[in-house]
Amino acid sequence: MTVSELPLIAIDGPSGVGKSTTARRVASRLGWQYLDTGAMYRAVALAVHRAGLELGDRPALERLLAGLALAQEGTHIFLGGEDVSEAIRSLEVTRRVTPVSADARVREVLVEQQRHVGATGRWVVDGRDIGTVVFPGACCKVFLTASPEARARRRFLELQAKGAVVAFEEVLEDLRRRDEADTTRAVAPLRKADGAVELDSSDLTLDEVVDRIVGAHLAHA
Ligand code: DC
Repeated sequence: MTVSELPLIAIDGPSGVGKSTTARRVASRLGWQYLDTGAMYRAVALAVHRAGLELGDRPALERLLAGLALAQEGTHIFLGGEDVSEAIRSLEVTRRVTPVSADARVREVLVEQQRHVGATGRWVVDGRDIGTVVFPGACCKVFLTASPEARARRRFLELQAKGAVVAFEEVLEDLRRRDEADTTRAVAPLRKADGAVELDSSDLTLDEVVDRIVGAHLAHA
């Protein structure tokens, strides 16, 4: 690792590729901390929804962002002191987070907070723009992919296990829609960062993915 590189592992990739589980495992293997930036966008989407705010109402959005008190402790995320870890995973928030995460001002505020957190130590950070925008100086950058079918299959099985009645086609269609939104938005679209290691997890187990990321990090350290 050269002195100009930050002790951060950036993991970017599309929805449903298993970034959070992977990132959490990598962090625990290395004894580093884990930051879930998707949870931050979800928390803002929840706050916007609860306030009944339209994104077009810029003064109201500015007030909301100025008063935003986000915190993450382990796997829990807090909004103004309230544990919203469950609430941010609701279908309602999942539906509303895409336009919120495409808003340039929201991104500006959250990226600043993420950089602040990242400066405090050794972190594994996952998201869509971590290696490209937030921490281009991360010592290890990973672009985690899997085919839409492989991602939809995993999501479908997870939903079935929770007792949800869904069609595979519906799950696949939803993932394709989110891929399209994430890769074509004007601000910080999802793409592989310069110098990132690309890892296709379609035919790998979670342990194999974690092993490869830890291996890539150690080879570089
Ligand atoms: O990874 P996730 O599904 O929890 O992410 C929620 C939303 O936030 C999703 O629309 C992608 C977006 N996101 C983003 O734009 N940039 C990040 N760094 C993390 C997530």
